[in-house]
Amino acid sequence: METFSLCSFFLLGLVLLFTNAVPSLVDAKTHYHDFVVQATPVKRLCKNHNTITVNGQYPGPTLEVNNGDSLVVSVVNRAQYNVTIHWHGIRQMRTAWADGPEFVTQCPIRPGGSYTYRFTIEGQEGTLWWHAHSSWLRATVYGALIIHPKEGSSYPFPKPKREAPLLLGEWWDANPIDVVREATRTGAAPNVSDAYTINGQPGDFYNCSSTDTVVVPVDSGETNLIRVINAAMNQQLFFTIANHKFTVVGADASYLKPFTTSVIMLGPGQTTDVLITANQPPARYYIAARAYASAQGAPFDNTTTTAILEYKTAPCPAKGASAKPVSASLPAFNDTATATAFTTALQSPEKAPVPTDIDESLFFTVGLGLNRCPSGAKSSTCQGPNGTRFAASMNNVSFVLPSNFSLLQAHQQGIPGVFTTDFPASPPVKFDYTGNVSRSLWQPVPGTKLYKLKYGARVQLVLQGTSIFTAENHPIHLHGYDFYIIAEGFGNFDPKTDTSKFNLVDPPMRNTASVPVGGWAAIRFVADNPGVWLLHCHLDVHITWGLATAFLVENGVGELQSLAVPPADLPAC
Ligand code: C2O
Repeated sequence: METFSLCSFFLLGLVLLFTNAVPSLVDAKTHYHDFVVQATPVKRLCKNHNTITVNGQYPGPTLEVNNGDSLVVSVVNRAQYNVTIHWHGIRQMRTAWADGPEFVTQCPIRPGGSYTYRFTIEGQEGTLWWHAHSSWLRATVYGALIIHPKEGSSYPFPKPKREAPLLLGEWWDANPIDVVREATRTGAAPNVSDAYTINGQPGDFYNCSSTDTVVVPVDSGETNLIRVINAAMNQQLFFTIANHKFTVVGADASYLKPFTTSVIMLGPGQTTDVLITANQPPARYYIAARAYASAQGAPFDNTTTTAILEYKTAPCPAKGASAKPVSASLPAFNDTATATAFTTALQSPEKAPVPTDIDESLFFTVGLGLNRCPSGAKSSTCQGPNGTRFAASMNNVSFVLPSNFSLLQAHQQGIPGVFTTDFPASPPVKFDYTGNVSRSLWQPVPGTKLYKLKYGARVQLVLQGTSIFTAENHPIHLHGYDFYIIAEGFGNFDPKTDTSKFNLVDPPMRNTASVPVGGWAAIRFVADNPGVWLLHCHLDVHITWGLATAFLVENGVGELQSLAVPPADLPAC
């Protein structure tokens, strides 16, 4: 049992329990969990809410496993909304049925229903997380998924004394489901959030929040591992700790070549593992996060969430006195240079098996759009810029989810009419993507179009941001895969000159790529996991508007290269 400084008790802070990093001594095991999705009273920012949670916890339970273990999570839906749970970043080899995105790999778990997710962790170590993948429920339905090294193996860095997850979230003073419903009705952008949170707590810069600020206790001299997860809905975040440096050792459950920095940037969906050594004078130091807001002129939540790094021997503040922790400085909201310096510093620890011969060379634009309002539509439903409705697309297709079958079911059972496989390999019209785009190119076409990949195809995908309406950084997430980010840049990708920037030696492996504002990112992967895999912007407002598509990866030869049969309890639509 840890002992904490008295300050924490006097201040009634929420003390984060670091766990001791003890290796377990048994073979690969199966972990069983029950997740009850339910409305739970939660008070934040002086207001009471009936928040949708898992097991009454906000954030939800942390799952801890070893690489090679299996998880069996039985989800019971006692809430009034449809729900599904996605295991963000888990490869789900052959088990696409357990991936979770609503109407992609399963129909939703209806109120009163249940579904058991079964999958094995294969070859992944580090920090991932789980979250609801239905409407905007993930605003409060999420938790950490920590994968320790395989039995008998250790981290590729000095063993930290202790470790803990810090989940960055986003909080609305309203029901998040109402926020997205209202935006869908009006066609306008949804309201921005009222707070960011660290492990569910906004911290002492917000009203009615100071006594609940999360406290992270440390001992002088020790090195601890902090697993930072951006679980925010719609905002990239900068993260820092006052007067302390990070050694970055992993991201998205892949190890990295260690490097030091004082600030990290995470897009929604991304995780970053950092070592931090308590080498400063014993005191209390702010841990802080706030927006990296890359879109010019767009409204965003400009508040700052905090927690406190507290040395156990720090002198206690006198009772009643306000002993402010040492303050942290964060980059400016629009500091793209700092964001870029971070993302381009990531490298694999050693030479990586990056595919060199490419079977599928794809080029997808990613960005916003504006739909003209149908004639006769009520103006209350056309509250986007100049009487339009907001939209978003990839290669000008604004993705529409089916509602009567999941895509995976339709694929596996050969049900016609649910989707087509004519998603274009490159944009239907070539234009100056990051320039002054003609208004005639602002309106995307709705559709449920997938891109088909042969089993084993070696894929290169250039994700090209557009400046339609506005340019901004997009965190693009691919389900069921990790990929190498071989390069990124600003402006339009130029196949003649930009290929010289490709790092085919030690690029970082991730599941979510930050596509630079007004720029591009190039990724590579081998299509070795059959199924239907969503590719989307992890800003939920953009997925709501259609910034998505999916890869349909065909079966290979034999059972080991084929999608498993669907579980008997797979929810029906
Ligand atoms: Cu973390 Cu499709 O999402």
